[in-house]
Amino acid sequence: MSSIGIIGAGQIGRAFAMALARNGIGATLSNSRGPESLKEIVASLGPTIKAGTREEAAAKDIVLVAVNWSKVSAALSGLPDFAGRIVIDANNPIEAPLFRPADLGGRASSEVFAGMVPGARVVKAFNHLQPALVSGDPRAEGGRRVMFYSGDDAPAKAEIGALIGRLGFFGIDLGALAVGARLVQFPGGPLPALNLVRFG
Ligand SMILES: NC(=O)c1ccc[n+]([C@@H]2O[C@H](COP(=O)([O-])OP(=O)(O)OC[C@H]3O[C@@H](n4cnc5c(N)ncnc54)[C@H](OP(=O)(O)O)[C@@H]3O)[C@@H](O)[C@H]2O)c1
Repeated sequence: MSSIGIIGAGQIGRAFAMALARNGIGATLSNSRGPESLKEIVASLGPTIKAGTREEAAAKDIVLVAVNWSKVSAALSGLPDFAGRIVIDANNPIEAPLFRPADLGGRASSEVFAGMVPGARVVKAFNHLQPALVSGDPRAEGGRRVMFYSGDDAPAKAEIGALIGRLGFFGIDLGALAVGARLVQFPGGPLPALNLVRFG
């Protein structure tokens, strides 16, 4: 089983950690303030989730990044090359309190993001549902909640697709980043915030 790190311990980082914990999967959770500040949060998440530094989280086989868009660059700066490891982009290019879309120069936010994680195989996922739907039971509606993902590297996508399935979601591969990431991007794409459930 691949090791998992999480950079960003806010609403989405914690929701992802909760989904992992519910399925007995381990992860290292990190934020900007250091592991001490996460003591209570990891205690509430159960024994599989540990607090760590940003560098420790970034060294795992799979690294999910969930940081406010304007801080993503700082959260990733100075880290070693990802050397083929998988980085999940769970971010959207907009943030409270102004909710003004970031200027991306016409690119998908995941394409901008990919430029900040040299050597990484980027998969876009876990960015299109509200935190409670990421952490909650995906089977709760009598079917399986849909989780979209996209990326340019087929084996990386297959690994994240398998993780999504293991968490109980019904994963749908939206293709390459240039296509799929735009479909789920908030704002702009048609798919974010849709709570879709696959029956049967
Ligand atoms: N909330 C949603 O409904 C939602 C849904 C889907 C996707 N998203 C996306 O997910 C991302 C995170 O959103 P959120 O709502 O989870 O934000 P949030 O609750 O404000 O949490 C942001 C996290 O980023 C961490 N962080 C900031 N700067 C950092 C740095 N330099 N190094 C390491 N960690 C750093 C913060 O740590 P400290 O507190 O220690 O600074 C905090 O744990 C955003 O891009 C957002 O667009 C959000």
